[in-house]
Amino acid sequence: MLQIDILTLFPGAFSGYLQHSIIGRAIERNFVDIRLHDIRSFTHDKHGTADDYPYGGGAGMVMKPEPVFEAVESIKSGVEKSEYPVILLTPQGKILTQEIAEKLASLQNIILICGHYEGIDERVAEHLVTDEISIGDYLLSGGETAAMVIIDSLVRLLPGAIGSQTSLDEESHVGNLLEYPQYTRPPEFRGWHVPEVLLSGNHKEIATWRREQSILRTARRRPDLLKRASLTEAEYKMLKSIGLQNN
Ligand code: ADE
Repeated sequence: MLQIDILTLFPGAFSGYLQHSIIGRAIERNFVDIRLHDIRSFTHDKHGTADDYPYGGGAGMVMKPEPVFEAVESIKSGVEKSEYPVILLTPQGKILTQEIAEKLASLQNIILICGHYEGIDERVAEHLVTDEISIGDYLLSGGETAAMVIIDSLVRLLPGAIGSQTSLDEESHVGNLLEYPQYTRPPEFRGWHVPEVLLSGNHKEIATWRREQSILRTARRRPDLLKRASLTEAEYKMLKSIGLQNN
């Protein structure tokens, strides 16, 4: 079972989220164990001081290193794992991708550290953390929402957490392609029709159409992703013929 330990100053921020559909069910069915640790409970003064003024001056507060080190060391103590990532959520980290999510979902233990205020004392990143991850090029007020994003992207990959494997294989970002467009009933809505091929019952034609739609959509919306996808010669030709060359 995947065990995720979260270090945060705001454990309460996670409670509603962890009860919701797929995550809640995955926890209930023991596919994942998520443990919240309040960084403040690893402080030793009577005020529970977890932050302090930055050396050198400047605005805001910086999270102190001692409680974060102590929390990680207490979680890790007695656990021998060859791969045990200690991940700091930070806008300075490597951007989260489906590939990273897949890698993390295959492990047994992960620690997520949520930063706050102006950041965390650099010695945490330098001497405690193994990976720094960002969920995108924008600034959040804390790492909690980023941790929830990571948890969501991992848990839905755990075997059994989602109904069927095929629904995982055909989704956006798998194989670096966006998903094809989906339709449901009615076949005509306000004069807009569902593409004829989907009503044909011809599974081979449907699969071909979907693959083509995935490729076209990725070429138009995310040419950066398409560069990392593997296409057949015929598919490259098809893109070239309509001026959407993948180069
Ligand atoms: N903390 C603040 N901004 C963040 C981001 N974009 N990703 C991860 N953690 C963050």
